[in-house]
Amino acid sequence: MTAPIITIDGPAGAGKTTISRRLAQLLGYRYVDTGALYRGIAWKADRAGIDVDDERAVRRLLEELQLEAVWTDDGAMRVLIDGRDVTDELRTPRISMLASRMSALPVVRQCLLGLQRRLGREGGCVFEGRDMGTVVFPDAAVKIFLDASLEKRARRRYRELGDSGQRLEEVREDIRRRDENDRSRQLAPLKMADDAVRIDTSDLSIEEVLSEIAQLVAQRQ
Ligand code: DC
Repeated sequence: MTAPIITIDGPAGAGKTTISRRLAQLLGYRYVDTGALYRGIAWKADRAGIDVDDERAVRRLLEELQLEAVWTDDGAMRVLIDGRDVTDELRTPRISMLASRMSALPVVRQCLLGLQRRLGREGGCVFEGRDMGTVVFPDAAVKIFLDASLEKRARRRYRELGDSGQRLEEVREDIRRRDENDRSRQLAPLKMADDAVRIDTSDLSIEEVLSEIAQLVAQRQ
């Protein structure tokens, strides 16, 4: 029997990355940050200066792209584009918005669907994203949907960005727009799977969220 897959979906700033990483550590599973894959494609498109509304140009870019995920000894996922580790360049506001726009394109989603399923082939993974429980792994053993109020999510992201120069209002507006994009796209929009468990992290500590999920995982096993 292959080890289970746990999916953690939800909007930006709901705490997915922190929780998924910690959960994976706790269970001895592999942590897969699928947002970083979309960001990797956006990074390359930005570098190449292509118009993301030009489907042929995007298709060509994807054909030439070498996108890989590798893991460090401490379980962190790194993204390699054409052999170069670009992970530290992926979490800027510009790449966030571009990744959200590009993630609405069918060619981009198709390209990543296969890669994500290959990464999960052996099980024993925590997958973080937007459509993990709905589209990529509909049979996942445990599905979580993390949510929080817009205000809480904006404040978390603002703290994370540190002295990036972005004001709180700008971060809030970026998150709001990105969620709207992610929820309203036709293909694999951000939404909770029917059989997912929703956890509102607005007033919970990381430890509280983790313990709730760990209990669910134990119950299902
Ligand atoms: O999780 P993140 O903020 O790093 O993701 C960046 C963008 O990528 C997000 O706005 C939407 C897109 N994305 C997606 O469409 N599907 C996923 N499974 C993960 C991310």
